[in-house]
Formats: sequence, structure tokens, C-alpha cells
Amino acid sequence: MSKPRLQGKVALITGAASGIGEETARLFAANGAIVVIADIQDELGQKLAAEIGQNQASFHHCDVRDEVSVEKTVAFTVEKHGRLDILFSNAGKMGPLAGILDLDMEEFENTMRTNVKGVTVTVKHAARAMVKSKTRGSIICTSSVAAAIGGVGPAAYTVSKSAVVGVVKTACSELGKYGIRVNGVSPYGVATPMTCESYNISVEEAERNTSSLANLKGIVLKCRHVAEAVLFLASDESAYVSGHNLTVDGGFTMVCSSIPPPDSSI
Ligand SMILES: NC(=O)c1ccc[n+]([C@@H]2O[C@H](COP(=O)([O-])OP(=O)(O)OC[C@H]3O[C@@H](n4cnc5c(N)ncnc54)[C@H](O)[C@@H]3O)[C@@H](O)[C@H]2O)c1
Repeated sequence: MSKPRLQGKVALITGAASGIGEETARLFAANGAIVVIADIQDELGQKLAAEIGQNQASFHHCDVRDEVSVEKTVAFTVEKHGRLDILFSNAGKMGPLAGILDLDMEEFENTMRTNVKGVTVTVKHAARAMVKSKTRGSIICTSSVAAAIGGVGPAAYTVSKSAVVGVVKTACSELGKYGIRVNGVSPYGVATPMTCESYNISVEEAERNTSSLANLKGIVLKCRHVAEAVLFLASDESAYVSGHNLTVDGGFTMVCSSIPPPDSSI
């Protein structure tokens, strides 16, 4: 049997109590990692840690909008497990559904605080811990297809997810000399609580809507598909991949859906 892909690695995952982060925590643990589940949803986070098992998972309250909270979460991880190998900076929110003409700038700032400041400060403190301990770590940040094309997300969300790609670029350029890799993951629509609550629709409706607009047919995008991409970026299988933004979108952002493909005779 082959060795688990993250055997002996310690991973910190923000936004791990739900959705993509939760699925990734489960998959990382199944691949041998010790995971620290960091989130503002304490009950869900603690429940997930208990399900994975206390030998492999623990919960730490972390609000990524607050630098002190992030610093304490990174310190908790290093003190408890002696190291930090992987950061999955994934906590995020959709924010208001408004377009640019109706944007409330207070709400815009709230979205930026979670999605941009939150990712930036998490990368900052995780990278400081990795550099200090000379760990050749892997950092993965969650962006979105909304960073690649306009019109698929609300204005503030689109701006914030585009900025996450910038965080990946600058961190990649600065941390390469320490052997630290930094990549992004950009999913297409997944029926998580964020999506369903933002649009007030059921999981079934969300999946129907995204599948009808998808480029790749015959498959519904699930959290698991995104988690598998994150696992690749976290593992040594991507040892020379850095600065990449891995879209998990079935080709959605590569195709102009306004122009129908040519008719085929088959
Ligand atoms: N679901 C999608 O269609 C989709 C597509 C592209 C990108 N994303 C991104 O994926 C990431 C995960 O979202 P999801 O879809 O799994 O939604 P989700 O709501 O299931 O999970 C998001 C998690 O982030 C946590 N969180 C929110 N604000 C936080 C804060 N300030 N500090 C710490 N944790 C916080 C929430 O409590 C929640 O557990 C987000 O960054 C989101 O923007 C989602």
C-alpha cells in the first residue's frame, strides 16, 4: 500500500467548520495529516474535530478579520504539534449580492476584511512560523472563478477574490527563497451553506443552477472535487508548483458561453 500523501504533516485550515474547508479537513486527515480546524463556528468546528478524532484533529476559535486571533491560532498549532507544514487559507464569505451601482461601502469593507485581510494576515503569520522553523511549507488560498471573469459573483466578492490572486502572487514571489510554495484554488459554484444561504436556495436548486450553466456536463461539482485539488497542492506531488491558481471549474472560465460550439454530425 502506498504511503498516505500527507503523513506526518501538520495542516491549519481556516473556514474548516463547513463546506469546502470541512471536506478538506476530512480528506487531509484521511491522508495522514494532523489538522487544526480554525473557524468562528465553534460548535460545528468542535463537532468536526471530534468526528475526525482527537489524535488527528483539534478545533481553535479563529476570526480571520482579527490579526491577534490569527496569530494565536498559528501559535496554538505550533505549540501543540511542534510545526506547521500546510496552511489552507479558505475562510470566506459571499457578502451582499449587490452590483457596483448599488454597493454599500461599509458592506464592501466587511467583505474585504474577511476575504482579503483575512487571507493576507493568515498567510503572513503562517509563513512567519514556517520561515522561523525552516519548514518548506505549502500555502493554498481559496479564490474563485469570480476572480477570472466578471459577472459570476456580486461586485464586492469579485473584487475580493481577485485580490486573493494578488496575495498568492506576492507571497509566492517572497517565500520561494525559503522553499515555501504558495498557490490558489478557484472553484466554480458548489452547493455549500455559503451559496445556499446567500441566494436562499436549497442544495438541489443550487446544484441544478450551477450544472445548467456549467461547461462540463454529466458531473455535479462537490466539495470533494475542490478538496482533492487542494490535497494535490498541499502534497509533495506538486513539489515544483508555486504561484499557480488552480481552477476547479470544468473549463467554465475558458469558454465563451455566448458563442455556441459548432454543430456536430455525431
Ligand atoms: N461555494 C462556492 O460556490 C464557492 C466557489 C468559489 C469559492 N468559494 C470560496 O470557498 C471558501 C469556502 O466557502 P464554502 O463555499 O465552503 O462556504 P461555507 O459557508 O460552507 O464555509 C465557509 C466557512 O468560513 C467560515 N468563516 C467565515 N468568516 C470567517 C471568519 N471571519 N473567520 C474564520 N472563519 C470564517 C464560516 O464560518 C464557514 O465555516 C470561501 O472562501 C468561498 O468564498 C466558494
